[in-house]
Amino acid sequence: MPDPSQAGHQLVVVANRLPIDVAVGEDRCVSWQRSPGGLVTALRPVTEATDAAWVGWGGAADLEMEPLEVDGTRLVPVTLSTAEVVAYYEGFSNDTLWPLYHDVIAPPTFHRSWWDAYRTVNRRFAQTAAAQAAVGATVWVHDYQLQLVPALLRGLRPDLKIGFFLHIPFPALEIFAQLPWRQQVLHGLLGADLLGFQRAGGAQNFLQTVRKYTEATTRGPVIEVPSADGDPRRARASAFPISIDSAAFSARARTDKVRDRAATLRAELGNPQVVLLGVDRLDYTKGIRHRLQAYGELLDDGRLSPERTVLVQVASPSRENVDAYVQLRDEVELTVGRINGSHGTVGHTPVQYLHQSFDADEMAALYLAADVMLVTALRDGMNLVAKEFVAAHFDDCGALVLSEFAGAADELTSALLVNPHDIDGLKDAIVTAAEMDGRQRRRRMRKLRRRVLTHDVQTWSAKFLDALTEVRRTA
Ligand code: G6P
Repeated sequence: MPDPSQAGHQLVVVANRLPIDVAVGEDRCVSWQRSPGGLVTALRPVTEATDAAWVGWGGAADLEMEPLEVDGTRLVPVTLSTAEVVAYYEGFSNDTLWPLYHDVIAPPTFHRSWWDAYRTVNRRFAQTAAAQAAVGATVWVHDYQLQLVPALLRGLRPDLKIGFFLHIPFPALEIFAQLPWRQQVLHGLLGADLLGFQRAGGAQNFLQTVRKYTEATTRGPVIEVPSADGDPRRARASAFPISIDSAAFSARARTDKVRDRAATLRAELGNPQVVLLGVDRLDYTKGIRHRLQAYGELLDDGRLSPERTVLVQVASPSRENVDAYVQLRDEVELTVGRINGSHGTVGHTPVQYLHQSFDADEMAALYLAADVMLVTALRDGMNLVAKEFVAAHFDDCGALVLSEFAGAADELTSALLVNPHDIDGLKDAIVTAAEMDGRQRRRRMRKLRRRVLTHDVQTWSAKFLDALTEVRRTA
């Protein structure tokens, strides 16, 4: 049990992963490097201004690491055993909650032993966070892997301001209802003072499930949570759409290095008339199969020319021990092989498939080199790739085809919005984007850029933290 009188940090971020990549050598020596994810950037203004700690997992099993100081933030590693990586991370987080919250695109697996591991690990995160926080500090808990942490933390440290942000969608009531531990998860979340969601629809879904499955009552976004002493506590659930470091990404795309690289990429692709681009973690929620289906049919139909068009598909490796991901990789690679087999020539490959990850400069160059970005997610919390593509196109060129099932569709309304299940509609949108004249492209892109540049990730974190302070003030 932590001693609340001890000195601690004014802000504690709790996320499944630490913002570093840890590598364990053959000699068991541990080395690490910064992993510049979106959350790190989002919180940089806050972590630089306050004394902050970040509690998370180093990304490898059985890793015993001492806390370390990186860029002024104390990183506090949580150790997961090999069995916990299987049951808590690969199992309950990524084979139960992930498919369930993404509208059961893949069937969720329910195992009681995975649930037990989820509880155990959530308790460990809560205890670690409680030990780091100063009296009255703010603790910001992130994402579906840690939904029990808010209530556990409140039990340990009622003095804390607790915020929770869900980076993925919160599903409709009927879907969430399938979870055998739905009440425990809701109770865990209701430990927070402020609950943030990507879309207004997610916040609404959450409020509806709270009304149906808990004793709490709601009025608009305000939730009255009954407490043991009879005095209800006030929490709030609202949308806070996340973003990127837009100005920095746009500036990166403007550098000579990135512009030269973009020109080289186009030349290496054989200077095609149209470069289409897909960039995703290799995940079944991203609609990669639907995209390939549409593109393959457009080549079959002769509506796109295989000599003058290329689709670059970056599919970064992800969760490779989970069955659904293994299967997806096989299917995607089979389809890519079929399209290239039917439409390729010795000198030209219509799908350039890259099962790799690239650094930010290379990504910016790819976005800049592309004429059309295809974001065809079947369900996605936000989709920051869409925002990165927009931020990279300082030239106002480039057309965005965007799934209405990605959170980004609420903001990026000047994109060509599609239902990726409607293959004919998707095909039409791809052709429209590929053939769009310069004036129309610029008109749409300017609107998209205005939105992305004014709603960046720093605004997102500031809004969330201000709202958290406000909820506690008026509770
Ligand atoms: C999504 C989730 C994050 C997660 C990321 C990468 O964006 O919302 O919580 O960290 O995917 O997945 P991984 O399983 O590699 O952490």
